Amino acid sequence: MSTEKRPTPVNGIVITFFSTASAVGKTLVACNMASELAREGYRVCLADFDLQFGDVCNYLHLEPLRTLADVQRTMQVEGDSCRVQDFLTPYQNGDVSFSVLAAPKALEEAYNIHHDYAVRAIRKLQTQYDYILIDMASMFSTLNLAMLDLSTIVTFLGIVDFIPTIKNMKIGMDTLKMLGYDKNKIRLVLNRSDAKTRISLSDVQKLLGEPFYHVLPNDFRAASQSLREGIPLVLAKDHTDLGDALKALVARYTNHTTAPAETAKAQEESSWLSRIFS
Ligand SMILES: Nc1ncnc2c1ncn2[C@@H]1O[C@H](COP(=O)(O)OP(=O)(O)O)[C@@H](O)[C@H]1O
Ligand SMILES: [Mg+2]
Repeated sequence: MSTEKRPTPVNGIVITFFSTASAVGKTLVACNMASELAREGYRVCLADFDLQFGDVCNYLHLEPLRTLADVQRTMQVEGDSCRVQDFLTPYQNGDVSFSVLAAPKALEEAYNIHHDYAVRAIRKLQTQYDYILIDMASMFSTLNLAMLDLSTIVTFLGIVDFIPTIKNMKIGMDTLKMLGYDKNKIRLVLNRSDAKTRISLSDVQKLLGEPFYHVLPNDFRAASQSLREGIPLVLAKDHTDLGDALKALVARYTNHTTAPAETAKAQEESSWLSRIFS
């Protein structure tokens, strides 16, 4: 695999990580996809736009000196001459490196971010990076809608655990459709697929009106070790099924694989879930 950096792009690809419930794996998947894309030699910037409770720097064990709040403050004074690249925090693991635009440190700063500055920051990053990955909070906020508009691909993550989570996933999917987003732009990704549940995946897919584009297995041990060490699974020395599934997701996004869309298999025949929502 080439580690040679490509020439400066004119319009980087934006991938957002969105969900309608928290703790479904947005940050874990975003950090791993950033690492894998960087490992493949792409210029990558990972922006933490879960403004109030962002976790990217915790996952990567980074201590940012500057954040999105500093970008906004500088843009308010300097306008578009603000160099967003001066506000990024580098992540490095061996030969693999990428940049992080950290979430504001203080809650008050997070609250005062205006989506207009966030959009301008991403537009600037698009002139310097092949891929801009945006980790988001689980809500339909003005900021998130602006990011969904900018996205080349929306990674809509879900887990199948309890009825309220699935109900909210349906609201999310229906809302994205109602807002007119191109179906091909939204990739429904199921995380923690083999976690213990009595809910049938085929029922969930029927309810959502979409098959899962990709499925990530449950691996609590690997996920917590990665968090403890600050090393994304795709860069870890030990091979894991979860790490492989994350690499496969990146390969599909970058078209290195021609595998047909992986749909979740029905685990059982019951359809009590669809009856509840029908
Ligand atoms: N596939 C997985 N298997 C096991 N644990 C996971 C998996 N994906 C995420 N986790 C764990 O679930 C928790 C929530 O993940 P996180 O990425 O922080 O969610 P979000 O950003 O959507 O709130 C974390 O402790 C993470 O390590
Ligand atoms: Mg998160």
